[in-house]
Amino acid sequence: MLLECNSTGKEFVITCFGESHGRCIGVVIDGCPAGLALSEQDIQKELDKRIPPKPEIVSARREKDVVEILSGTFDGFTTGAPICTLVWNEEAIPGEYDLMKDTPRPGHADYPARIKYGGFNDYRGGGRFSGRITVAFVMAGAIAKKLLGLFGVEVLAYAIEIGKVKFSAMPTLEEIRESTYKTAVRCPDLESAKEMEEAILKAKKEGDSVGGIVECIVSKVPVGIGEPLFDSLDADIAKMLFDVPAVKGVEFGAGFKAAQLKGSENNDPYVIRDGKIVTLTNNAGGILGGLSSGMPILVRAAIKPTPSISKKQKTVDLSKMEETLIRVKGRHDPCIVPKAVPVIESAVAIVLVDHMLRAGFIPKVLEGQE
Ligand SMILES: Cc1cc2nc3c(=O)[nH]c(=O)nc-3n(C[C@H](O)[C@H](O)[C@H](O)COP(=O)(O)O)c2cc1C
Repeated sequence: MLLECNSTGKEFVITCFGESHGRCIGVVIDGCPAGLALSEQDIQKELDKRIPPKPEIVSARREKDVVEILSGTFDGFTTGAPICTLVWNEEAIPGEYDLMKDTPRPGHADYPARIKYGGFNDYRGGGRFSGRITVAFVMAGAIAKKLLGLFGVEVLAYAIEIGKVKFSAMPTLEEIRESTYKTAVRCPDLESAKEMEEAILKAKKEGDSVGGIVECIVSKVPVGIGEPLFDSLDADIAKMLFDVPAVKGVEFGAGFKAAQLKGSENNDPYVIRDGKIVTLTNNAGGILGGLSSGMPILVRAAIKPTPSISKKQKTVDLSKMEETLIRVKGRHDPCIVPKAVPVIESAVAIVLVDHMLRAGFIPKVLEGQE
């Protein structure tokens, strides 16, 4: 049995637990330095970003997801001990998924999980494979982002594509901060956001779903973060992003488009600006040779259309070994992207803070202390 597959990180180590329709979703964070001001409200405000304001475009399942910190803080500061945080699954309705026990839902992990775990897996709502597990990512991400803030690093994610609606202009950091969470789809461009919403509603009306792309920018990353060969910064970020359910592609900077460019077009020339070495372009997406280059890290994750759709689909009744049809019931989002935005942001922050601690960065609050 392989151990540690529910944990990630070397200095900022997170271990996730819980299932979609189990009692709770939680995370244990080990390695967070002592002295970080941390309240439940810090985590709650990040969790609340998972619930976009328009119920039409997210599922009727509107968990309150009220966070509890069980350990690792005292008098409002982290103590250096493992931090355990969780939310209780108040809205779990286990019976709702019983029909699916023997009829695996297309696009979900139901079938391979049943084979791997011999039928003992908690299949309710996808169990351990549900998008609900990303509540743990967001709770750990809230702490990672607070720590990164002490290093002066900011991580921001936003939707750039939903259905076939694209927002291609690179927004300014100010626009991202100001506007992303003003829109239900979490796209900082208000015009594109409206069209994206329409695309989601159209798919919903058809009993279908749409996917999209989440972009994440990390600013003020020091040069040289990353541990090549096998813990390269881009490799670790990509791995964490692929651990987010429904992520099907990851690219940095020019990404797949780099394959069509000439070296002279793709290389980012160095110049000096305000006494600092920067590059004129950022096709590398802020990472060279697995090390941060000092330019903003720019990474995109492609999110597939929600697999649970109300249209009829072919599947197999495993108890009878017969082909059959399934119409997925339950409460599902016609598009995962809006909820995935804070999740992607958290995933990137978790990897980055781990690498900064590995590189010996000490949070400002602790500098100069015994
Ligand atoms: C934040 C989030 C929410 C999700 N919500 C749903 C959902 O409501 N319905 C659904 O069918 N899939 C949802 N998913 C995706 C499935 O969990 C995922 O597609 C499935 O477990 C199969 O994993 P894979 O797509 O990574 O192969 C969600 C994913 C994320 C990240």
